[in-house]
Amino acid sequence: MEICVVGAGYVGLTLATCLAKLGHRVVGVEKDPERLEAVRSGTCPFHEPGLAELLREGMQHGRLAFTGEFEEAVEGAEVVFCAVGTPSGRNGEVDLSALEEVVEGLARLRDGERIVAIKSTVPVGTTDRVARRLRPDGGAPVACTPEFLREGSAVLDFFHPHRTVIGTRSPFAAECLKALFVPLGAPVLLTDPPTAEMIKYAANAFLATKISFINEIANLCERVGADLRTVADGLGLDPRIGPHYLRAGIGFGGSCLPKDVRALAELAREYLVDPVLLEAVLRVNESQRRRFVDRVEALLGGLAGKTVAVLGLAFKAGTDDVRESPALAIAERLLARGASVRAHDPVAAEAARRRLPALVCFPDPYEATSGSDAVLLLTEWPEYRDLDWHEVRRRVRRPLVVDGRGMGLTQHLAAAGFRVFEPGSPWRGRHGKWMEEAEWSI
Ligand code: UGA
Repeated sequence: MEICVVGAGYVGLTLATCLAKLGHRVVGVEKDPERLEAVRSGTCPFHEPGLAELLREGMQHGRLAFTGEFEEAVEGAEVVFCAVGTPSGRNGEVDLSALEEVVEGLARLRDGERIVAIKSTVPVGTTDRVARRLRPDGGAPVACTPEFLREGSAVLDFFHPHRTVIGTRSPFAAECLKALFVPLGAPVLLTDPPTAEMIKYAANAFLATKISFINEIANLCERVGADLRTVADGLGLDPRIGPHYLRAGIGFGGSCLPKDVRALAELAREYLVDPVLLEAVLRVNESQRRRFVDRVEALLGGLAGKTVAVLGLAFKAGTDDVRESPALAIAERLLARGASVRAHDPVAAEAARRRLPALVCFPDPYEATSGSDAVLLLTEWPEYRDLDWHEVRRRVRRPLVVDGRGMGLTQHLAAAGFRVFEPGSPWRGRHGKWMEEAEWSI
């Protein structure tokens, strides 16, 4: 098929590149000149494993091209995917201005109709509104085709989806989009646009709920002396619960989960449904960061004048994305409370420094730990597992590791001489008082 993908962010660039790999002819539209220049030269503008190789392959085979000219790209396309950003507005509502610009561009075209598939995450009702904008009777072939890929494993997720959701009122669009995604082998759910839009929000909100749930359980495990890891395993073995998204720690971040939970809560309020659970999910998530900083402060007997090594700044491993990163928020709070922060991240340091210029980053993780009173694990990069922790031990001032990601390194690090605190491990006495230093120091 002749396909146009508008927007070369994580979703759009992955979609364009992978559809070209499947044999389609794809033109990507990007209006940011710097990003356009990068993709045109075969460079992936963000860290996403495997994507740069596929991008270059598609371009070399002549199946993939990029342009800044919207009309030119859209004119020859049978299907136009809209994958522009839909960030949070000021009050948690969704900012649809980029999508609206695309739709106005499509509405201005004089020639025949093409299928418009919305990949961006959009509030319930948006797809039907777009269909009405393009044809007043609402009969334009418009669909909501939500994306479920994760950053850091986007290519893998594209080729191995768990489901394909197509929400449309147009049988023509349904058939065409089904044909496009059937080769991926996942079950196809054909439905109406509001249902497809809701599936996307509900899926992200459910994942966020699982994370906040396990975080609350972890906080309780800390007090009652239950072993969180075994508790999570015990939950996950029940197929009705499942083992995923039960990793406790500093909470969820990124450009999707927090934004989508906020947007769903906002939608609920708009329709006079009290979003009790969604608000609790956000509250627990926010408090995890606060608790973590409080814990470090208590363990060090204050933060002012202390040196803290922060290992990991990305919102999760496998990406250089620091949007709503809990790691970055924690680094910021540590700085605000007077700590001197020495940070490292294998790929996200530059992005982190752009958002938090006061942050001092080191290209070498060992250097970041030198002279520190505590080492904080804030992104679960596998390279931190493989550090020579004996070498780290020689460099630090105090042998303390606070693991915000539950990396399961306690025994390994203890063997190197560290005292380790991880999610769920006790840090207050029975009556809620801080543990005395004598109780935990080695
Ligand atoms: C998420 C969804 O997982 C995707 O299905 C969806 O397509 C995407 O949002 C989107 O809407 O575009 P992503 O933002 O890449 O994907 O991140 P996740 O891998 O879901 O992780 C989100 C956050 O939760 C990260 O900060 C991660 O560290 C945290 N997390 C994850 C936990 O704290 N515990 C867990 O057990 C799992």
